[in-house]
Amino acid sequence: MAFSGTGKVWMNGKLVEWANATIHVGSHVIHYGSAVFEGARCYKTPKGSRFFRLDAHIRRLFDSARVYRMEPPYDQGAVTRAVIDTVQANGLEACYIRPLVYRGYHELGVNPLQCPVDVAVLVWEWGAYLGPEALELGVEACVSSWARSAPNTFPAMAKSAANYANSALIKMEAVLGGYSEGIALDPSGHVSEGSGQNIFLVRDELLYTPPVSASVLPGITRDSVITLAQDLGLQVREQNIPREMLYLADEVFFTGTAAEVTPIRSIDKIQVGAGRRGPVTTALQRAFFDYVNGVVPDRHGWLTESRTPHLAV
Ligand SMILES: Cc1ncc(COP(=O)(O)O)c(C=O)c1O
Repeated sequence: MAFSGTGKVWMNGKLVEWANATIHVGSHVIHYGSAVFEGARCYKTPKGSRFFRLDAHIRRLFDSARVYRMEPPYDQGAVTRAVIDTVQANGLEACYIRPLVYRGYHELGVNPLQCPVDVAVLVWEWGAYLGPEALELGVEACVSSWARSAPNTFPAMAKSAANYANSALIKMEAVLGGYSEGIALDPSGHVSEGSGQNIFLVRDELLYTPPVSASVLPGITRDSVITLAQDLGLQVREQNIPREMLYLADEVFFTGTAAEVTPIRSIDKIQVGAGRRGPVTTALQRAFFDYVNGVVPDRHGWLTESRTPHLAV
């Protein structure tokens, strides 16, 4: 979905017009992918706009920066306020939020240490990532010919821009092959994750998801879905998953801030279960959307106010 090209962007402490939110082409990040970032969401609830687990996203942003020896010139509280200010300045009731920490303009050796650490926050309206019908009907996915990164190469726990070169290979291959998404295996051939989503399988009412050691991003939606599943009395197993389990599962679904909870209806043209959203996926999707949309009480303390007074009802 193309940007509307309007609104304000927070850059190093200032809100600037969208068109002026630019950086020099000599910036380190452009050449070497030296950025870490987040993707969070703000939802419209009956009590006003609410951020979903913003604290967890900001914490992961700083964790990612730490792995890459980046010290943002703002602390977690200041970046949280920057997110709130940016959403407020753009007057959005519900939006996607992209905080970014990147190596800026100074010199272009591979060593980034002398380059400034710059911070930006973009927000925009972004509906269902894989299309609105995907949430109900599910998507067609394939197993990618590209694997996720091996341990001790690109750290999967850090949400680094560089990791998304791998994601883009997975996504392009899938889309050009007529699928909505690709599912990557880890270097040992176990199921890892989608190009920008974690993955869950259901078999005999047990829920399976790959462990963090299977080259996955420790997703905040993944963590939330595990908690919501336990709330529903479902057992969740974080364990290595052989590829063929994808074809034998009763249900499979993606989770992520962008994709939320999206069923998968076929993998490599093999129908998943009955070929439509299954009962466990439906229950978890409902639990997730009821939670983020403020339909049920915030029993886990995951929703925080956007402090946008004119949005409060
Ligand atoms: C590679 C990858 N895995 C998993 C996820 C899901 O993470 P989260 O639920 O925190 O958005 C994302 C999205 O950020 C992602 O890009």
